[in-house]
Amino acid sequence: MPKLKLPKPPVPPLPKQLNPRPRRPGGGPPETPVDMAKEAGISVVGWVDERTSLTGPARWLMFRKVPRGTNWFYTLGSATLFAFLNQAVTGVFLAMYYDPSPTHAYESARYITNEAFLGEFVRGMHKWGSSVMVILVFLHMGRTFFFGAYKYPRELNWIIGVVLLILTMTMSFTGYLLPFDQRSYWATIVGVNINGTGPLVGPYLSDFLRAGPEFGATTLSRFYAIHMLLVPGAIAALIGAHLYLVTKLGTTAPPWLKAEEQSELREEVA
Ligand code: HEM
Repeated sequence: MPKLKLPKPPVPPLPKQLNPRPRRPGGGPPETPVDMAKEAGISVVGWVDERTSLTGPARWLMFRKVPRGTNWFYTLGSATLFAFLNQAVTGVFLAMYYDPSPTHAYESARYITNEAFLGEFVRGMHKWGSSVMVILVFLHMGRTFFFGAYKYPRELNWIIGVVLLILTMTMSFTGYLLPFDQRSYWATIVGVNINGTGPLVGPYLSDFLRAGPEFGATTLSRFYAIHMLLVPGAIAALIGAHLYLVTKLGTTAPPWLKAEEQSELREEVA
């Protein structure tokens, strides 16, 4: 297969807003408070850039050419990212009150909902946000599949995506136990048993999840550690790799555009 030669995009210009306006003759101060605020913003960016040269990579990352026909379906990946960030932020606040011990977990979750300041709101955002993230990740996968974005040279990004999908489902599964009420307890027993029926790795996986052959005192802390440390860390790292590949390879043009180009070609040949 011939090696794909990607055309180098020209270095994008500095966004208009970051160009300082020419000073009035005599170098007087900017006129309005809005101008002064703009100048202050530009000075801060300039100060940081002089010391880090970060605007080069930032421009490379953010100001890119996109294929003709790019539409709203292309926002589903960013929407999934936003849902993940929402889970991370609300999760940090929940962790400030939640106690993952079998004797205190239920009570601490009840405390968050009924007594902690904005607790019900933050817990609701986390609970509903988890469903939103699952729905979005499936929609985003559907978009990339139907637009043929899994094909060469983006196979690796598809594979990273599959791992992200599994990790997202793992987040939902491990989070479900944490309220530690009857429903979450029994649903988790069922879920772990289903895992145990998997070929070869199944029994090891269910032992790992239960932290032993039976559901015991350490199962909850095992789920908690997986839910708030192991999997979010892996998701964050993989999103980094996923987005690096998106910026490096660019996004796929909608398939109907390719079809149009091909019919033009056929006409030329005829
Ligand atoms: C936490 C989950 C995920 C996040 C945050 C995420 C984020 C993104 C973003 C921001 C983009 C660029 C914009 C776009 O095309 O929407 C993208 C592109 C892509 N994603 Fe994901 N993604 C996730 C999961 C997945 C999954 C589950 C798959 C497939 C199994 C996948 C496959 C792809 C592919 C192939 C592209 C390139 C699209 C193209 O070339 O047009 N991603 N992703």
